[in-house]
Amino acid sequence: MKIGFYNIQGGTGKTTIATNIAYYISDVVKTVFVDCDIYGGNSALFFNMESTPETINAYLNGRCTMGEIIHEYENLSVIVSDPTPGAFDTDADAEKLVDLLNKLEEKYDVIILDLPPNITEGNILFSSEELSCKMIVVGEDSIPGIGGTLKTLELLDALDIQVIGTIVNKDRNIVEFDDVIDNVIAILPYDEEVEEQWIKGEPIVKKKSHFGKELSFFIEELLEAYIQKDLATLRAIEIAKEFKSHILEKEEEEKKDQSL
Ligand SMILES: Nc1ncnc2c1ncn2[C@@H]1O[C@H](COP(=O)(O)OP(=O)(O)O)[C@@H](O)[C@H]1O
Ligand SMILES: [Mg+2]
Repeated sequence: MKIGFYNIQGGTGKTTIATNIAYYISDVVKTVFVDCDIYGGNSALFFNMESTPETINAYLNGRCTMGEIIHEYENLSVIVSDPTPGAFDTDADAEKLVDLLNKLEEKYDVIILDLPPNITEGNILFSSEELSCKMIVVGEDSIPGIGGTLKTLELLDALDIQVIGTIVNKDRNIVEFDDVIDNVIAILPYDEEVEEQWIKGEPIVKKKSHFGKELSFFIEELLEAYIQKDLATLRAIEIAKEFKSHILEKEEEEKKDQSL
């Protein structure tokens, strides 16, 4: 299953939350994090991989294979984007990118997509490719933040993309999001320590912090109520398919035997 993190506004905490969730759940389910922000991504800094040449950009430009761009960070598989201005030379081939994501889906239980905020070229959400991704909207506790989040929800609705819910981030009691938006699934505090993880290049949920604690509560819920249930459904469908093909094979064999 693919889970995307999105808002048309930048800086709300999409990358922070997507990377931390991916890292945390990778202990439980086979997970790959993919930075889909081809031109403006910065997840490489988060994982201390800023100097790797094996990025999603290199893959799209035909310089690396899929295997080469998958890096391991403890239990988590990670595909970062080029964080340098060299990223502007990338061929944003939506078909190739969606094809990569579908191939990853054969190998991983969960694919976490860090999506760019732009609504133009370079964002697979607005290509004609079928993405089949469920979305978590990350909104920021501010007046512009609520406006951006409302617009984002309208947009996803118009695009017919299923939304799991909205995470309100950097909460400082500025806006009562619950009064305006009815799908709030978590409220995460503003926490200065979050900024520091970018300096250290490691996930915040690794150490005790106010933000990390609240996020881990939410992740437990997400795993229980959503991911494990959904994976169970997917497995049940696969088992049913296998069972069906087994029966069909048997029927074929019986037909052959009868005709002999
Ligand atoms: N809860 C938080 N408290 C304090 N700072 C945060 C919080 N969430 C994110 N940030 C900071 O906000 C900035 C933007 O976060 P980022 O995850 O890059 O946003 P986006 O991916 O939406 O552009 C980063 O410097 C990050 O450390
Ligand atoms: Mg980002």
